[in-house]
Amino acid sequence: MKYSTLSSKLSDSPTLAMAAKAKKLVSEGLDIISFSAGEPDFHTPAQVKAAGIAAIKKNITGYTASSGTPELRKHVARWMTREVGVEYAPNQILVSSGAKFAIAAAILATVDPGDEVIFPAPYWVSYPDMIKLAGAEPIPVETDLAHGFKMTPSALEASITPKTKMVLLNSPNNPTGAVYSHTELIALAEVLARFPEVWILSDEIYSRLIFDGKKHRSIAAISSNIAERTIIVNGVSKAFSMTGWRIGWAAGPKELIARAGKIQSHTTSCPSSISQSAAEAALQMDDSFMADWVEQYSRRRDIFIDLLKAVPGIKPFVPDGAFYLFCDIRQWIGKTKPKGGKLSSCFDAAEYLLDEAMIAAVPGDAFGAEGYIRFSFACSEDDIRRGVPRIAEAAGKLK
Ligand SMILES: Cc1ncc(COP(=O)(O)O)c(C=O)c1O
Repeated sequence: MKYSTLSSKLSDSPTLAMAAKAKKLVSEGLDIISFSAGEPDFHTPAQVKAAGIAAIKKNITGYTASSGTPELRKHVARWMTREVGVEYAPNQILVSSGAKFAIAAAILATVDPGDEVIFPAPYWVSYPDMIKLAGAEPIPVETDLAHGFKMTPSALEASITPKTKMVLLNSPNNPTGAVYSHTELIALAEVLARFPEVWILSDEIYSRLIFDGKKHRSIAAISSNIAERTIIVNGVSKAFSMTGWRIGWAAGPKELIARAGKIQSHTTSCPSSISQSAAEAALQMDDSFMADWVEQYSRRRDIFIDLLKAVPGIKPFVPDGAFYLFCDIRQWIGKTKPKGGKLSSCFDAAEYLLDEAMIAAVPGDAFGAEGYIRFSFACSEDDIRRGVPRIAEAAGKLK
């Protein structure tokens, strides 16, 4: 039997592969500490869970309008208007099965085979494959630690070609936690103003997870010209600890949202009716509880960074948002393991940490950054205090 060319072009999710190996070791009874999670470790708020249960009891269990219930689209539009500082109407909102599908639908509604989509590297693992799904060409733009892992206006401009159809931004970023300031977004917007045919997709799924009193800013708020060609993606997954409920959304120009909605109607039909009721409750909550979550994440970040000072050959980047520590481990590469054999890549290094220290982490090559590793601090302080000394011991054994 033959498979499609498209399916052969897609890569297996490397984050899932490492998670699967770690899970197997846990099932064998090993004390694995996981720093690989891409989701909050808090529970979904009680009143949101209650709204989901109530929806089932009220038999809200059928298909809904394909682009989301009118009620939820109304609440998302209000929430986004507050979040972004740009007015959104319900018909400018597409509610999807997770932010992930909202991104895929937005790309499929705008990008043609042969087009190019620019995005800064390190990047979230799914972007290149989603772009390939549309038959387009992923164009990662290198960033570095010296520039805070942010795409500079000159690097953006140098990557734009006549084939560029879209620029994809992600702030706060997964995996680096880099957050673009208002000034930095203005500078990128100035470049984009010279290329009016280029769409902007801004993935702001971590917008609520920002530390040290800094504020989330969206490129859509820079000018009406930019807002008219920007699709913002957000959702309840990270902010409300609702990853398994699968509710995210795209907000943008009405025509584009209608087209992305058509794609959704012929693929997933609609997001879960029960989850939509729960998301409606989430968006109406007094969300002051989030300040406590952010405080906990930021404390864990600081403890993690402090403990990493005892680890030879590792340089963490201090994130302003999200819940990941992206670390430079290039000094480990080429070193010999205690039982023999060299670490020839960051994938080897992640495997070494799993085998030698029983620590699960995600190698940087998954995010387009060889020589780096991502640790998630969406875990308990206790895990961090027990886990980092194990990393230090394993790193100390490399010769
Ligand atoms: C940068 C980024 N965008 C989008 C998503 C997808 O979010 P959702 O779970 O709502 O599909 C994730 C999830 O890890 C992410 O890290």
